[in-house]
Amino acid sequence: MAKVPGHIGMPIIGDRSLEFANDSLKFVNNHIQKYGRIFQSRLLNRQTIFLASYDAVQQLLNDTNGTYDMEYRYKALWGENILHYNVTSELITDKEATRVKAVLGKCLDPDQLARLCGPMIHKILENLLGSLEHEKEVPLYTKFKQVASYITVCLFLGLDPGSTHEIDSIIELTTEHWHGLISIPVSASFTGWSTTFGKAIKAKDELIDRIEELLCRFDKNEFNQTISNAGFKSREELRNHILLFVSALPPKAVASLLASTFIELGKTGHARYVDIARNDLDLLNAITTEIERLHPPFIGGKRQAIKGGVISGFTIPKGCSLLYLTHAAHRDPAAFPNPDQFLPERCSNNRKIWTFGGGRRACVGRTLMKMMLQETISYVIKNYDWQFQSDVCNIKYKTLPVYRPDKEFYVKFTRRDNP
Ligand code: HEM
Repeated sequence: MAKVPGHIGMPIIGDRSLEFANDSLKFVNNHIQKYGRIFQSRLLNRQTIFLASYDAVQQLLNDTNGTYDMEYRYKALWGENILHYNVTSELITDKEATRVKAVLGKCLDPDQLARLCGPMIHKILENLLGSLEHEKEVPLYTKFKQVASYITVCLFLGLDPGSTHEIDSIIELTTEHWHGLISIPVSASFTGWSTTFGKAIKAKDELIDRIEELLCRFDKNEFNQTISNAGFKSREELRNHILLFVSALPPKAVASLLASTFIELGKTGHARYVDIARNDLDLLNAITTEIERLHPPFIGGKRQAIKGGVISGFTIPKGCSLLYLTHAAHRDPAAFPNPDQFLPERCSNNRKIWTFGGGRRACVGRTLMKMMLQETISYVIKNYDWQFQSDVCNIKYKTLPVYRPDKEFYVKFTRRDNP
């Protein structure tokens, strides 16, 4: 077996976290050029192996031996939830993690989502996107983030899409809560002033209180009843997972995919896809899949090596961190010829992509996300024509924590005569 190329450098002084955070895509591309698609460096002061080849990511995510697992540490902000259940957890056995995953699967069962949530999503689209032609300029990412936030909050908390005051106040709390995740984890307050993390903990407590209040009304709505009866072992487990579902992160990821879709469709030569997709669900599906390949909202995910292993012929030492690089693997020319081109037709080659992770830790919200994406794109392209207020061809993307265009794009919508 070969040793992974690259330098892990000296502890602390050899750390490359800042360089990675400043421009992750440049960091990865420079290392690929120097060492190939599997390389190592030092991140968060730990030996970190980067996987940027399609095959290597596939091998990592398909591991079924418990060699690699998640290592997210958000308990202070989230309480115990599935993200903290892994094969090294002292309290939770692997069997427990499988149980919770099955419970979450029941909450987000595709048939049920289609039957119970479709009408609610339509109502939200009508409310928020029904008169875009009257807005002078629409900030694309912000507008889509609002749509996605409304959908997750109404769905998981059983709120009526018309109760805008209540929904907006919850979205405000989820945003404050989210800021804790990207701040220094120190909770302190002094005469009314508080650290960002301290404010996030306070927002979490308020959200938990609101969830508790709303749980009492869950028997009034069939979708919420399913969540209550899905098999959570305690009220706390149910409550913590609802907190996870209404997090501000998924709406950011949905908004990123939607903004990327309209930007890609707005490029020269791509208008033909819009004309056909208005009445062709298969093409719409191919478009969203190609956007997920080219513009995954999370450029990668993290694992730890619980045991020593081998990936693509390279030795993976026990205890190191691994980053699987979705964005880079999706642009691996060995898997996708002309990888930087937007070609919805290529979906016919049926290769797996990892925008929603994969294997036993794959995203449970994927069906809901697909539904939100397709319903929203379909609604907009059927009802509107649109024009960008600036050039969409030379866009720069910011990558962390969510990959998206580095500036807001403004659009003028005009209503189509025959939707
Ligand atoms: C566009 C939106 C979304 C994207 C791109 C996305 C992406 C992902 C990815 C990449 C993972 C795997 C993380 C890893 O391998 O470390 C993941 C896991 C997960 N996602 Fe999503 N997600 C989205 C929306 C949602 C929504 C709406 C929900 C819930 C309603 C959700 C629930 C989860 C959960 C519970 C896990 C953890 C699964 C486990 O621990 O086994 N996601 N998601």
